[in-house]
Amino acid sequence: MAFDTALKICCLFFVCVITSRSASAQLSNQNYYEKGCPKALQTIGSAVKSAVANESRMGASLLRLHFHDCFVNGCDGSILLDDTANFTGEKTAFPNLNSLRGFDVVDTIKSEVENLCPGVVSCADILAIVARDSVVELGGQSWQVQLGRRDSTTASLNTANTDLPAPTLNLSALVTSFSSKGFTAEEMVTLSGSHTIGQSRCVTFRARLYNESNIDSSFATTLKANCPSSGGDNILSPLDVTSPTSFDNAYFTNLVSQKGLLHSDQQLFSGGSTNAQVTAYSKNFGSFQKDFAKAMVKMGGLSPLTGSTGQIRTNCRRVN
Ligand code: HEM
Ligand SMILES: *[C@@H]1O[C@H](CO)[C@@H](O)[C@H](O)[C@H]1NC(C)=O
Ligand SMILES: *[C@@H]1O[C@H](CO)[C@@H](O)[C@H](O)[C@H]1NC(C)=O
Ligand SMILES: *[C@@H]1O[C@H](CO)[C@@H](O)[C@H](O)[C@H]1NC(C)=O
Ligand SMILES: *[C@@H]1O[C@H](CO)[C@@H](O)[C@H](O)[C@H]1NC(C)=O
Repeated sequence: MAFDTALKICCLFFVCVITSRSASAQLSNQNYYEKGCPKALQTIGSAVKSAVANESRMGASLLRLHFHDCFVNGCDGSILLDDTANFTGEKTAFPNLNSLRGFDVVDTIKSEVENLCPGVVSCADILAIVARDSVVELGGQSWQVQLGRRDSTTASLNTANTDLPAPTLNLSALVTSFSSKGFTAEEMVTLSGSHTIGQSRCVTFRARLYNESNIDSSFATTLKANCPSSGGDNILSPLDVTSPTSFDNAYFTNLVSQKGLLHSDQQLFSGGSTNAQVTAYSKNFGSFQKDFAKAMVKMGGLSPLTGSTGQIRTNCRRVN
C-alpha cells in the first residue's frame, strides 16, 4: 500500500471515530423509547395530566425542576438526588431550598415507568418530558422533546448556588448568567416567560414591593396586604397576577404595565435593550410560543450524559 493511501485510510478512520464520538454525545429524537419502553411517553403524559388536574401549580413546579436541573452541570437529573449522611445534593442550595417542589410527582412517575420497563427511562428524560407536558396541560404549545439523557451519580451544591440566576439580578447580570450557558439575551427573555405560571414566596419579592419605584402602585398595594414588610416569608403570590394557571403571554403584558412580581422579571422591561421584545411578545402570543418551544429544546440539550456515561437510576432520589 502506498504511504499516501495508508495516510488517507488512517485519516478516514480518525474522522469516523471523531464523528461517532460527537454523535454519541447528542440526544435522540422523541422516538428514543419506542423500542425499549413504548408506553413511557403516554404513561408520563397521563400522570402529568392528573397531577395538574389535582393542583394546577404543579405544572409550574415541574417545569422549574427541568430548568434547575439543566442549569447545574447539564440536564442529568442531579436536582433529584436527596442528601444523605455521606452525600450532598442540590436541594438545599439557596435557589432550591423551601422552593422547589414536585419531587413526589416525579417519584410516582418514575415508579410507574419502572414497573413498565425497569432500568430504561432516565430521571433526566422524565424531567424533560414532564416540563413539556406541563406546559401543554396549562394551555401552551407542544414541542418535540429530545431524549436519551442518562442520570448523574453526582450533584453540586456549589454550582447550584452559583449558576442559577437570582431574582435580585439586574438586566446585564441576567444576560451574563444565561450567556454563560450559551443563551442569547433574546432566549433569556423567552425562557423567563415561564413565569406566566406558578407562584413565588413573599421573601423573594418583598424588597421590590417596599423599595422599588418601577412598580404599578395599586399592584404594589394589593401585594403588600399579602406580604408584610417583615414576617410571612412563605406567603405565596402568583408570578403572573393576571392568569397564574394559564400558559399565555400575560407575563409580558404585565411587565409592560409594571406588574412584574420579581425584581428580575421587571428588569426585562425597564427601559433596557429587551423592552422591544417584551412589547412584541405582549402583542403576539404566537411568536412567544414558537420561540419558547425552540428555547426549551435548546435548554434540554445542555450537557447531557449519553452513551455509557452516567446511569439510569432506579430511584431518582439516589444513585444506584
Ligand atoms: C431569568 C432568570 C430567572 C430567575 C431569576 C428566576 C427566579 C425564580 C424565583 C425566585 C422563583 C420563585 C421562587 C420562590 O419564591 O420560592 C421562580 C419561580 C419559577 N420559575 Fe423562575 N427564574 C428564572 C428563569 C426561569 C426559567 C428559565 C424557567 C423555566 C424554563 C423558570 C420557571 C419558573 C417557574 C415555573 C416558577 C414557579 C414554580 C412554582 O410555582 O412552583 N424560571 N423563579
Ligand atoms: C393534590 O394536591 C394537594 C395540594 O393541593 C396535595 O396535598 C395532594 O397530595 C395532591 N394529591 C395527589 C394525589 O397528588
Ligand atoms: C453512605 O451512607 C449510607 C447510609 O446513609 C450507607 O448505607 C452507605 O454504605 C454509605 N456509603 C459510603 C460510600 O460510605
Ligand atoms: C448590575 O449588577 C452588577 C452586579 O451586581 C453590577 O456590577 C452592575 O453595575 C449593575 N449594572 C447596572 C446597570 O446597574
Ligand atoms: C429597603 O431598603 C432599605 C435601604 O437599603 C433597607 O434597609 C430595607 O431593609 C429595605 N426593605 C426591604 C423590605 O427590603
